[in-house]
Amino acid sequence: MKRTMIFFALTAVAVAGIAQQPSKPATPQPPPPPAATAPATPPSVPGHFDGVASCANSGCHGSTQPLNAARVLQNEYYTWLSSDRHAQAYNVLFSERSARVARNMRLKGKAYQETVCLDCHSTNVPARIVSGKVDPEDGVQCEACHGPASGWRAEHTMAGWTHEQSVARGMIDLRNVPTRASGCLSCHLGNDKKEVDHELIASGHPILAFELDNYTETMPPHWRRGKDTVTAETHGARAFAVGQAVAFSQSLDNLARHARGEKWPEFSDMSCINCHHSLEGSGWRQERGWPGRAGLPAWSPQHWAVLRLLVGRANPSARAQLDNDVAIIATRVGHMNDSNGVFQTAVEARHVIDGVTPQIASLSWRDDDVRTLMRTIAGDTDFILTSDVHSAEQTALALQSLASALTRSNPKLLKSPMTEAIDALFAEIQNRERYEPARFVQKLGTLRAAL
Ligand code: HEC
Ligand code: HEC
Ligand code: HEC
Ligand code: HEC
Repeated sequence: MKRTMIFFALTAVAVAGIAQQPSKPATPQPPPPPAATAPATPPSVPGHFDGVASCANSGCHGSTQPLNAARVLQNEYYTWLSSDRHAQAYNVLFSERSARVARNMRLKGKAYQETVCLDCHSTNVPARIVSGKVDPEDGVQCEACHGPASGWRAEHTMAGWTHEQSVARGMIDLRNVPTRASGCLSCHLGNDKKEVDHELIASGHPILAFELDNYTETMPPHWRRGKDTVTAETHGARAFAVGQAVAFSQSLDNLARHARGEKWPEFSDMSCINCHHSLEGSGWRQERGWPGRAGLPAWSPQHWAVLRLLVGRANPSARAQLDNDVAIIATRVGHMNDSNGVFQTAVEARHVIDGVTPQIASLSWRDDDVRTLMRTIAGDTDFILTSDVHSAEQTALALQSLASALTRSNPKLLKSPMTEAIDALFAEIQNRERYEPARFVQKLGTLRAAL
């Protein structure tokens, strides 16, 4: 699992990264795009992928230093190539670990040849919508996140051309938080086209964990903060909250699909620890008891763990309804027999959360509100005590994102008991096998005292 350290430190890491030699040879530079006047040729067909080389000209996004000539930094390509994990996403498919995953999954080819891996570890799009050079070697490149560039690449350098015009011609609107979240989650949680299910995990793939704001701020930033770019409206506490809602919605969609398909029951929907634990010293489970029939595995509440508290603030009656739906889902997933019931409830719950997401977005996110929310999350100990390590991870990531929002307006918090208490939370979940709810709850108490 990944977390932002603290955003100042992060900038330093990014700068240090840039100072290093890029780990991959620079891609050959294409001819410069049309000058900032009307394009010589009519606009090309939108929706085609041009490839990363088409962004990498030094006058475009391939400068080695941030420039002050345009609204954007212009060294985005360099930042991505030298220090962003996405540029390495294809290379990891050559590792021992990848070979083992491929073997266990009985894939015909090598990991780096297989669609199931390339779909998330590269920009794997059908040849009919490629007009430039889209090489798997380029990993998760610009267009995997920003969308196919053919419809706006030349045009977006023209004076007066707007972000909205680019979006109308195929650019993905990353300023729209739900849109951005579902783009990241397509690879970091999985969707109807690709996912890391129990078969991949059992074969050796790492477990995926994601929280939108933390993971965004963990990327070496290739964007500026400021008016008309990345703002507190789209990065920070509000983005965290909307990201939570979108992740829950997408996890329900995945669950509904599993319930309808051949994969049912899909063990990655459940709490790993229910099946994977030693029987030595297991008396505490018998002491604790089970919410339903003894000894059944549980649905993992990780995507509902923190979101409950946000929905509770935005729309209490939706919270009551979702609590009810979630209880039904949990029972049915544990029994593993009523897949139709799981499907129906998951679809219904998804409908409710999608309706509440705009209300969550329009909550107030002033520092006072953020602090109150942090107290609520850190005080939610009864839930944590009966939940799994993945819910604890979401709790820690949430508190970290909210703390970063506070630190942004008050840098003194960088060295404070609050920051130390959050570090202590991450220490508790660093090793999932050794996670103990009671100790995590104790650390939450320390954080509450520091708020
Ligand atoms: C649904 C998207 C998805 C699919 C499908 C997928 N991966 Fe991944 N993989 C990821 C993500 C996201 C990460 C990074 C996880 C993190 O650090 O949070 C990752 C990480 C990895 C890592 C660890 C990399 C490292 O830096 O340590 C390996 C190895 C890996 N994947 C191999 C594979 C192989 C082999 C396949 C095909 C059998 C595959 N992946 C399919 C999304 C996916
Ligand atoms: C893993 C996803 C991802 C990849 C890969 C990626 N970006 Fe980005 N990029 C983002 C996000 C997220 C933002 C912030 C957008 C926002 O919040 O408005 C961003 C912002 C930007 C911005 C600033 C936009 C603005 O309005 O201020 C530029 C320019 C940019 N990216 C160019 C690139 C280029 C060029 C590449 C490839 C070399 C690239 N990006 C690769 C996710 C990505
Ligand atoms: C096309 C699939 C894809 C998309 C879209 C994508 N990622 Fe990733 N991401 C990956 C893969 C694969 C890795 C692992 C790469 C590796 O290990 O080298 C990764 C790694 C990361 C990491 C590093 C994790 C670590 O353990 O160090 C962060 C942070 C991250 N992604 C954030 C984001 C954010 C934020 C977005 C959306 C703006 C996003 N990603 C969109 C596939 C994707
Ligand atoms: C309903 C029970 C169940 C749940 C829940 C479950 N698994 Fe498994 N898992 C199994 C079984 C059964 C096997 C095969 C065990 C064997 O061969 O020894 C397995 C195998 C594995 C393996 C490979 C075997 C090994 O020892 O390395 C890994 C890794 C694994 N699971 C991880 C997970 C993770 C991570 C989760 C949660 C996302 C999870 N499992 C959820 C039942 C479960």
